[in-house]
Amino acid sequence: MNEIKKIAVLTSGGDSPGMNAAVRAVVRTGIYEGYEMVGSLRGYHGLISGDVVPLHSRSVSNIIQRGGTILKSARCKAFYEKEGRKKAYDKMQSMGIDALVVIGGDGTFTGAKEFGKEFGVPIVGLPGTIDNDLFGTDYTIGYDTAVNTVMEAVDKLRDTAYSHDRLFIIEVMGRDAGFIALRSGIATGAEMILVPESPTYIAELLYMLEKDWKKNKTSGIIIVAEGDDSGGAMKVEREINDHFPDYETRVSILGHIQRGGSPSAMDRVLASRLGNAAIMTLKEGVSGVMLGLIDNKIEMTSFEKSIKHHQYINLELLDIARVLAI
Ligand code: F6P
Repeated sequence: MNEIKKIAVLTSGGDSPGMNAAVRAVVRTGIYEGYEMVGSLRGYHGLISGDVVPLHSRSVSNIIQRGGTILKSARCKAFYEKEGRKKAYDKMQSMGIDALVVIGGDGTFTGAKEFGKEFGVPIVGLPGTIDNDLFGTDYTIGYDTAVNTVMEAVDKLRDTAYSHDRLFIIEVMGRDAGFIALRSGIATGAEMILVPESPTYIAELLYMLEKDWKKNKTSGIIIVAEGDDSGGAMKVEREINDHFPDYETRVSILGHIQRGGSPSAMDRVLASRLGNAAIMTLKEGVSGVMLGLIDNKIEMTSFEKSIKHHQYINLELLDIARVLAI
């Protein structure tokens, strides 16, 4: 590895609360360690087009508490192709950028893995996604905030569910994973939680609803992860109305409010620790890894491994949720 003088940081994929805190930690640690720091705008797009801005210590003032990402984020199709990556490499060379810190999810690390292999660019990745579905970390940056956002929304919906004797079917994010659904479901005392990791049988769901109804449960909350095989909250509502019309139902799809907002203390601290460690990892000459927190210790996982493996949810929590909802 050649000597690193100038490091670029970027955020890529879906934004998540805490990305700014991570950018701040990367930039400030980088400057502290004597590197020149720059930011690539809109993820890998900035590297291809040369949309790169200098970052100083003051450039990242007053952002630790802000959601979204000051560097903007995007999914870059061109970077999936070798031609796009070559353009990015040439641009990096012309701008004197020696190394990268990339903050994002699966797609971000897939690009990083190829790029590192093809051109020998030192790259360290940080897990930034609300979905918490990355292998190699107990928590991703943004997950805790998203769960708290869902929890607050569901608490409010439960007020109306109770007052009007209604069953609310609430859809939360998680295209491929049920982490947000499971954790927010436990935290809000949801009657049922539907996740992609466990098959949903409508007959079983109706049976449980009937049992609840007989026990004088006149209101309730069903949390559905968007990637669940039931087909989503609207579909679940239709099935309930068609086969078990006793409950008055309402659907609420929380959508992108889950991606925004001020990060929780947990996300800010996680982002700060990982951001700091990213620079120290590059300084030690290590590359091609995602950093994560496992049992409260910073651990490295190769991009290869983090992409190939899946983080599994604790399915026992589904049973616990059901027991606690009797
Ligand atoms: O950030 C991950 C995620 O929240 C998924 O759960 C969701 O399916 C997806 O992003 C939607 O993102 P977008 O609207 O940006 O395509």
